[in-house]
Amino acid sequence: MDRTVTRVIVLMSVVVMSGLEARPSDSAPDLTARWVSRVANGDGTFRETVFVLNQQGSTLSGSVVNPTSEQPIVEGVVDGATFSFASAPPENPRRTTYRGTLAGDDITITVVRPGRPDQTLTARRGPDSAGRLPERVPPPDLHVVPDNGLARTPPMGWNSWNHFRGQVDDATVRTIADAMVANGMRDAGYVYVNIDDTWELGRDTTGHITTNRKFPDMKALADYVHGKGLKLGIYSSPGPFTCAGYEGSYGHEADDARTYAAWGIDYLKYDWCGAARLYRDSEMRAVYQKMGDALRTTGRPIVFSLCQYGRQDVWKWGAEVGGNLWRTTGDISDTWESMSRIGFGQEQLAPYAKPGHWNDPDMLEIGNGGMTETEYRTHMSLWALLSAPLLAGNDLRDVKPEILSILTNRDAIAIDQDPLGRQGRRLRSDGDVEIWTKPLSGGGQAIGVFNRGAGPAQATIRCEEFQLCDADVRDVWGHAQPTRFTSYSASIPSHGVALLRITPSR
Ligand code: GLA
Repeated sequence: MDRTVTRVIVLMSVVVMSGLEARPSDSAPDLTARWVSRVANGDGTFRETVFVLNQQGSTLSGSVVNPTSEQPIVEGVVDGATFSFASAPPENPRRTTYRGTLAGDDITITVVRPGRPDQTLTARRGPDSAGRLPERVPPPDLHVVPDNGLARTPPMGWNSWNHFRGQVDDATVRTIADAMVANGMRDAGYVYVNIDDTWELGRDTTGHITTNRKFPDMKALADYVHGKGLKLGIYSSPGPFTCAGYEGSYGHEADDARTYAAWGIDYLKYDWCGAARLYRDSEMRAVYQKMGDALRTTGRPIVFSLCQYGRQDVWKWGAEVGGNLWRTTGDISDTWESMSRIGFGQEQLAPYAKPGHWNDPDMLEIGNGGMTETEYRTHMSLWALLSAPLLAGNDLRDVKPEILSILTNRDAIAIDQDPLGRQGRRLRSDGDVEIWTKPLSGGGQAIGVFNRGAGPAQATIRCEEFQLCDADVRDVWGHAQPTRFTSYSASIPSHGVALLRITPSR
């Protein structure tokens, strides 16, 4: 055989052999790449998912990278131009499965999640940096951030998340502020107007945080809100991304704090989410301290709200990182199950609440439609007894009078805002009936008689068990004039409450 021909054959077989070893055949094209899917949020930002795929013959490994998580894949299989993988083994009830097809330069992936509609994403090969984390900045050494002197009583106001989610914008915030003035919410004490997640865009060339097109001018918005006698709150994360996948404060803490101060921001909710990709839970305290210091350095009074879902016993250190309030639970939803599980589950945390530093069992769902008015009265009563922040989470531009009267009940608010700042506790329970009490300034007490059961319950309390027999009782939801407190007996409806204020006689 001609030597040239031999050399070509040898060369060809080397190519084919190495192709067999390292590369899939033509019928199974190589999926090895960082595939980037970008879904427009409609405000100038995108939600990015990176599929990091590594194909070896007909098997696929890798991970799915979202702003707040990086999930290794399992069961990755390639079959010609189609492929599939999953986030967890079949026995995991939260397993997500992915089915994909390669077509030209794109892959199309259908994401199947339990209890959620299927989602189809298109992804393209991205740069090597796609989905990679910024370099980790070690958390600072611990110290105590001095008390900022704010929130001597639990903060009151409104927050956009529970009702509006990602649909909040400048016009909504302005009209909410208008409504809070017109409907008496402001005068009842609800002064913070808090923008939650999804206002962020990215960073300008000098690294300053920028707003997306829903919020064209944050300073002008703050001026507007201040002009109404209200205060403006904002939201961020210690991670590179917020929970909704927007720009976080990671690596820009001091600069962001200065920007908030320059805009005229009065309140920051700081939400862990994306920080979990860079820090362990045990580093939370130091990471929160960094923003506590940054806010303090601005010199502007900014309430600092920690949102890390009650992990790491935050109530034990929240005040020492400059926190004025700290979430004690995961997210509330507008159901009796969620609200009552959270609200009645706060008993152990009572010792940690004090003026300036509050347990936060999450924002109010009152008026969002998922509970009855009876249940919303229980929600308000429980939060008042817990000295919880009262952040309305409904659309205040369109609120039924019955709902407004729950939110603005002066006696319930006075219980929440009592200057003693002691959080209420469960005194006793008897089946579905629970008696909660909260000490008030002046020697009085607030008493909640709750019925968590499915049917009405008869309940009786007597003055002796509260050592308050020389006192008057006021039924907060009954609106009757105070009467002498000896005993109180009532049929409490299912999921209902009698909220009483006992005031010692002079
Ligand atoms: C988390 C918080 C919520 C809300 C969302 C916004 O889930 O707990 O209160 O801020 O993030 O993305």
